[in-house]
Amino acid sequence: MLKMWKTEDSVEEWEMKVKFFGGGKVDKLKTSVVSRSSMKLWMIRAITTVLLWTCVVHLLALGEIWGPRLIKSWPSCFSNQDVELTSVPAKVVLPPKRIYKNNGYLMVSCNGGLNQMRAAICDMVAIARYLNVTLVVPELDKSSFWNDPSEFQDIFDVDHFITSLRDEVRILKELPPRLKTRVKLGLFYSLPPVSWSNISYYTHQILPLLQKYKVVHLNKTDARLANNGLPIEIQKLRCRVNFNALKFTSQIEELGRRVVRILRERGPFLVLHLRYEMDMLAFSGCTHGCNDEETEQLTRMRYAYPWWKEKDISSEMKRKEGLCPLTPEETALVLSALGIDRNVQIYIAAGEIYGGKRRMKALASAFPNLVRKETLLGPSDLKFFQNHSSQMAALDYLVSLESDIFVPTYNGNMAKVVEGHRRFLGFKKTISLDRKLLVGLIDQYNKGSLSWDEFSSTVKEAHADRMGSPKTRVVIPDKPKEEDYFYANPQECLQLLDEPLRSS
Ligand SMILES: *[C@@H]1O[C@H](CO)[C@@H](O)[C@H](O)[C@H]1NC(C)=O
Ligand SMILES: *[C@@H]1O[C@H](CO)[C@@H](O)[C@H](O)[C@H]1NC(C)=O
Ligand SMILES: *[C@@H]1O[C@H](CO)[C@@H](O)[C@H](O)[C@H]1NC(C)=O
Ligand SMILES: *[C@@H]1O[C@H](CO)[C@@H](O)[C@H](O)[C@H]1NC(C)=O
Repeated sequence: MLKMWKTEDSVEEWEMKVKFFGGGKVDKLKTSVVSRSSMKLWMIRAITTVLLWTCVVHLLALGEIWGPRLIKSWPSCFSNQDVELTSVPAKVVLPPKRIYKNNGYLMVSCNGGLNQMRAAICDMVAIARYLNVTLVVPELDKSSFWNDPSEFQDIFDVDHFITSLRDEVRILKELPPRLKTRVKLGLFYSLPPVSWSNISYYTHQILPLLQKYKVVHLNKTDARLANNGLPIEIQKLRCRVNFNALKFTSQIEELGRRVVRILRERGPFLVLHLRYEMDMLAFSGCTHGCNDEETEQLTRMRYAYPWWKEKDISSEMKRKEGLCPLTPEETALVLSALGIDRNVQIYIAAGEIYGGKRRMKALASAFPNLVRKETLLGPSDLKFFQNHSSQMAALDYLVSLESDIFVPTYNGNMAKVVEGHRRFLGFKKTISLDRKLLVGLIDQYNKGSLSWDEFSSTVKEAHADRMGSPKTRVVIPDKPKEEDYFYANPQECLQLLDEPLRSS
């Protein structure tokens, strides 16, 4: 039995898989690029010869007319051709494979929405890398509130994910057949890793399980790796996965580019991640501004979801603590107070707003240029995305990265991950609203105890330092939930960055 799991076997298998999934394709790509480019080279040479002869003939003719001075223009004849010659297609350069002694196979099932899963995928790659195991392409959550049946490859470019990381860790699309059989027989170990663990938890608790069972399945992935106290290489690898290896599919990228192009043609735009959606309100118990019927509906929903632990919630107390997403009405006041131009385009990055038009009235009258993906694109463009909330979220993610200003109304996973990504892209402006302070000011303003000018200048002052500029991540030992999230400010990856990378 043990012999079956000899590591040499696994390495061979890896080599085979690479040939099958990555290497084979790469070789083919190379040969076709080579043959195409040699064809091109040949044609360019032929054309160049003809052009040069034409040049020579013309110059000689001109030289005869205007004398030898014009002969100086020869070099430009050449340099133009040089430019043409160097523009043959760039070769796809893949990193060399890392060869290592395989300690087993790691399967992971991500839980949560798209951005929670995105961060988790980065964590899992880093963990697999440091345990020297083989990672199976993560499985995405299909049973969460969002109920999206999308697989990894429906959202991310899976081949790019595998090949671009091959100098760090082996990633397979699926388990090798004999291990699959083993999994079918239940001969593997499944567990949720302890939240916010450091790498020594993984080397001391998870690695022995991998060595014993060969296949370990991590069945929960949200925030399983600490923000801080990890080796710098791990932090950098998390960034590399996040900013480089995780690319959306070309279909999503193309649609994202289209939305951004439409917006840009009309001028600057702000992305508002208005997290005023039914799931958020039911989960958080925040019902400020809802009518009785809505409050009842939200409460009923909260009790219906067993994994939403908190049931008995005082909405007003929670709001005062700054733990509720801003309502659309509150958001309208805050954006005006911040001095956001009334006529700027505001792209709403969100699903359906709870309460619909009635709740959007104040925001729409303060900012008449509200747009959404549904108003910028035709129904046929969104047809394939319609029942796939994660793909819709991916589209919003791309638009959020590109916006001139990004404003989230709640600090959920999308807010945090996009904020960090925008820092990486050159500290693009993200306004992190201080909700606890804001709801207090809003109540005072609404009661009439603050004038508009007082309200506005206090809001501006309080946010001068919350615009996504460089800062040190807050570390609170033993309170990981209260400290700054690694992905919101991956500072280890920002310092060395001289030239910001662009996403598209
Ligand atoms: C992983 O492999 C490297 C060599 O590539 C080795 O130095 C390291 O000790 C290994 N770690 C584990 C946990 O096996
Ligand atoms: C994860 O695995 C553990 C142990 O096998 C099990 O008790 C738990 O229900 C699983 N959780 C999920 C979300 O599948
Ligand atoms: C990792 O976490 C464990 C348990 O929480 C702790 O005892 C240990 O000191 C930590 N190690 C490092 C290197 O931070
Ligand atoms: C999306 O789902 C709804 C209801 O679940 C269904 O009526 C509709 O036809 C679906 N649309 C597409 C494009 O699959």
